[in-house]
Amino acid sequence: MGLLRLDGVSKRFRRGREDVVALDGVELEIDAGEFVSLVGPSGSGKSTLLHLAGGIDQPDDGLVTFDGRDLGRLSVGERARLRRKKIGFVFQFFHLIPTLTVAENVALPLLLDGRRADGAVADTIAQVGLSERARHLPGELSGGEMQRAAIARALVARPRLLLADEPTGNLDSATGKEVLDVLVTEVLEVGAALLMATHDERAAGRAGRVLNLRDGNVS
Ligand SMILES: Nc1ncnc2c1ncn2[C@@H]1O[C@H](COP(=O)(O)OP(=O)(O)OP(=O)(O)O)[C@@H](O)[C@H]1O
Ligand SMILES: [Mg+2]
Repeated sequence: MGLLRLDGVSKRFRRGREDVVALDGVELEIDAGEFVSLVGPSGSGKSTLLHLAGGIDQPDDGLVTFDGRDLGRLSVGERARLRRKKIGFVFQFFHLIPTLTVAENVALPLLLDGRRADGAVADTIAQVGLSERARHLPGELSGGEMQRAAIARALVARPRLLLADEPTGNLDSATGKEVLDVLVTEVLEVGAALLMATHDERAAGRAGRVLNLRDGNVS
């Protein structure tokens, strides 16, 4: 049985008087340690799918099963706890906390989970090549450095699944490639599965499997 499973997952949004069908009966299974990319035109539901997979949002129909647990049957608190322990997120616009240093940002998932910010923080920062920047604020970093800090934060708790939403979308192509290399290497090191939404064909091609999202369905 896969690490992540979506069975008949649908999600609709209300936009004014219109009903937008973002996902329409998606079937999907990802195994532990697998690298899968998710491509599709803007508005095809990639971000929506990642939010449902990570339990940030809930489907209107269908089941999302992560690590053998039906996310829909968990309370909000249980879902948050599961996320903190087992799922990491990387976003296009980094979402680092601007008033915290790199080291403090990276420590956050551990502290929120009631753990100590131990050697894992410095180790993970070193692995993404940011030791020299650990005491800097995000505003003092380049885009590529900010994304490497976000990758360290996403992986510091050694999650089973990393969800990345256009992680290179805000970077020039050389920096994007560097960041992707770090992402892939570190995900492998942690042994996590990676589900990555991207518009970048070269980045998508790095995955073991590419899923196409169109009209609310994957193929
Ligand atoms: N909170 C929301 N309220 C209303 N409509 C939404 C909401 N979130 C997403 N949608 C709609 O659902 C559809 C899928 O959006 P989604 O953001 O998942 O697409 P995407 O594939 O990630 O696009 P992009 O490549 O531009 O990031 C779009 O039509 C979008 O407008
Ligand atoms: Mg999106």
